[in-house]
Amino acid sequence: MAQLFTPAASTAFRVLIVLALLGAVATGVMAYFWARADSTWNIGKPAEQPVPFRHDLHNGALGIDCRYCHSTVERAADAGMPSAQTCMSCHSQVWTGASVLEPVRSSFALGQPIEWTSVHRLPDYVYFNHAAHVTKGVACETCHGRVDQMPKTVKTQTLSMGWCLDCHRDPAAHLRPRQAVFSMGYEPHGNDLPEDVRVFYREASRRLTSCSTCHR
Ligand code: HEC
Ligand code: HEC
Ligand code: HEC
Ligand code: HEC
Ligand code: HEC
Repeated sequence: MAQLFTPAASTAFRVLIVLALLGAVATGVMAYFWARADSTWNIGKPAEQPVPFRHDLHNGALGIDCRYCHSTVERAADAGMPSAQTCMSCHSQVWTGASVLEPVRSSFALGQPIEWTSVHRLPDYVYFNHAAHVTKGVACETCHGRVDQMPKTVKTQTLSMGWCLDCHRDPAAHLRPRQAVFSMGYEPHGNDLPEDVRVFYREASRRLTSCSTCHR
């Protein structure tokens, strides 16, 4: 039977197949690292804000509680953002003439909210609820990091689906006593959690990892 391809053509063809396979593997490896890179998830990147607000100063140094400014965090899905009035409770007395606070003063005068840029934003098809976490002993620090040391607010976790699921598979290991939810730099001391809570979460993990919990 006549040869369909010359020997040279078959060699070229084999080389092509090997190259295509290598290319596919390289793409896979790159996608793997891209999906895990901090920059893909905007970790550590501050957003442009209308006022250079500092958590390290207000929470870290002055010790103002998170709930003073994020007042719905224990009651609602959204943590809530401070109004100009909340800032003016102090800034009508301190730093009154400062030009950096001009947007706060004009929002206050006009009765309009200050337009903060979001640092954390989940896609619309994901349901999240602060109250459900905070009231069960998941701390701000666990998801937002050392906010009390941030001159500019940044993301410290990916907030990816894999990250949510890592905890939902075994939440008990990540829980704190209720009174430590707002504190920063907390060190767990041994067996903080009663055994019945651990048993409860071993059973709850099936519900917490089902798609409809977060995609409803
Ligand atoms: C409980 C009182 C209090 C509240 C509420 C408060 N601040 Fe302040 N803020 C201070 C004090 C005190 C200083 C000055 C600290 C200093 O001089 O070292 C300050 C300083 C600042 C500065 C200057 C920071 C710098 O050194 O660059 C900005 C900007 C600022 N605050 C913004 C805000 C905004 C925005 C809000 C509302 C979300 C707010 N503050 C709410 C007490 C407060
Ligand atoms: C004095 C008011 C004030 C206090 C107290 C405060 N915050 Fe904030 N927080 C703000 C303001 C103003 C912003 C928006 C500007 C920014 O992102 O820095 C903000 C933004 C944030 C964001 C990012 C929100 C987003 O858009 O994704 C997180 C997370 C956050 N705060 C957590 C905390 C935690 C945790 C505490 C307590 C440890 C706390 N805050 C205490 C005023 C406050
Ligand atoms: C289980 C993780 C988790 C915990 C615990 C948590 N947060 Fe959040 N936080 C998030 C996620 C996820 C978002 C983005 C929500 C969205 O886009 O719907 C967010 C957004 C925010 C925002 C932006 C406004 C908003 O509600 O979207 C603020 C402010 C905030 N968190 C403050 C806090 C404070 C203060 C605490 C502690 C009392 C806290 N968070 C505890 C995960 C968490
Ligand atoms: C560090 C642990 C932790 C992380 C991270 C976490 N969760 Fe949770 N989540 C919990 C715990 C604990 C509960 C409360 C379970 C209970 O007792 O009902 C909960 C409950 C929920 C609920 C309410 C379930 C219900 O209907 O009662 C939703 C929705 C949810 N989480 C979504 C998310 C999403 C979305 C993310 C990621 C952006 C996330 N969680 C990250 C620990 C976590
Ligand atoms: C604990 C919360 C949680 C549960 C449970 C969960 N997801 Fe997600 N899912 C998320 C979050 C957060 C995102 C957005 C961030 C991301 O893309 O990783 C997401 C994104 C997605 C996306 C878009 C992914 C992309 O790359 O654009 C799909 C598809 C998805 N989820 C399917 C599912 C399916 C199917 C299940 C059930 C087996 C499930 N999810 C269970 C939190 C959850």
